[in-house]
Amino acid sequence: MPKVDDFNDRMLSLGLARVSEAAALASARLIGRGDEKAADQAAVNAMRDELNKLDIAGVVVIGEGERDEAPMLFIGEKVGTGNGPGVDIALDPLEGTTLTAKDMPNALTVIAMGPRGSMLHAPDVYMDKLAIGPGFRTGVVTLDMSPAERVNALASAKGCSTGDITVCVLERPRHEDMIEALRNTGAAIRLITDGDVAGVMHCAEPHLTGIDMYMGSGGAPEGVLAAAALKCMGGQMFGRLMFRNDDERNRAKKAGITNFDRVYTRDDMVTADVIFAATGVTDGSIVSGIKREVGYLTAETILMRSKTGSVRRMSYRNPTK
Ligand code: FBP
Repeated sequence: MPKVDDFNDRMLSLGLARVSEAAALASARLIGRGDEKAADQAAVNAMRDELNKLDIAGVVVIGEGERDEAPMLFIGEKVGTGNGPGVDIALDPLEGTTLTAKDMPNALTVIAMGPRGSMLHAPDVYMDKLAIGPGFRTGVVTLDMSPAERVNALASAKGCSTGDITVCVLERPRHEDMIEALRNTGAAIRLITDGDVAGVMHCAEPHLTGIDMYMGSGGAPEGVLAAAALKCMGGQMFGRLMFRNDDERNRAKKAGITNFDRVYTRDDMVTADVIFAATGVTDGSIVSGIKREVGYLTAETILMRSKTGSVRRMSYRNPTK
């Protein structure tokens, strides 16, 4: 008999895929309806219901927010039946609420699971992020380099010109200087309006996505989810928390963070082997979005285990009545 404390990632992985599938299917009827909140709520409800069917003693470490601001899937919430291994859960029931409401690409439902204590308890602040795909020596690009230095370093490591590099960046006024510096190198920039978990994941499959590098600031919780994905897919990621005021510093202190300047590597953010599932809500280059036909919805899920490096893409056709 396996010990109840064993994190049997192989057995748990299919259950995890069901959780992200359920959230995506629930938000399907809200794609393109202009209502971010309703789409998010539908995903949250479904994700929580499905998660609570799993035989785990889970704790949400990256969730919908602090207990007083999120009624469900809040940080610290216990999930699962309680009969099974103690696990940390990081989730974003709908990564790209606006993308969903506007039916724009790359909205995903996302969840990662690892043994207790395996994931950084990132507060809800911004994180400066940098990611590249697999196959490069460690530290070929760093957060301390300027955007242009990163492009030059990656181009010489790839043996190509800077004009052959594509960088993915969230389109935000705060990134204007960075975008200009990148443009001056001749690199191409894939601007995204939201969804930097997908943005980082794109780097792991440049042959499918055309993206070599991700950089810029976005949510720190999304940073940990992206690190979990890259740990499974391969690739390097770095993140540094950014604080705009004392309230944000206090959030970090509450989460147990003492060094506010630390650069976290992928493996500092996710310290043990994890499993990761994401289901497409709207179409994207990682997975397809929900497809409808009379009487059915079909969802595509990417399910990965860092222990083995296995990456599954699974299609699930679900009767709607
Ligand atoms: P939501 O799905 O919660 O709307 O978040 C989407 C997102 O684009 C994340 O992917 C990203 O990390 C963050 O918002 C960026 O924050 P901001 O919109 O404040 O720049």
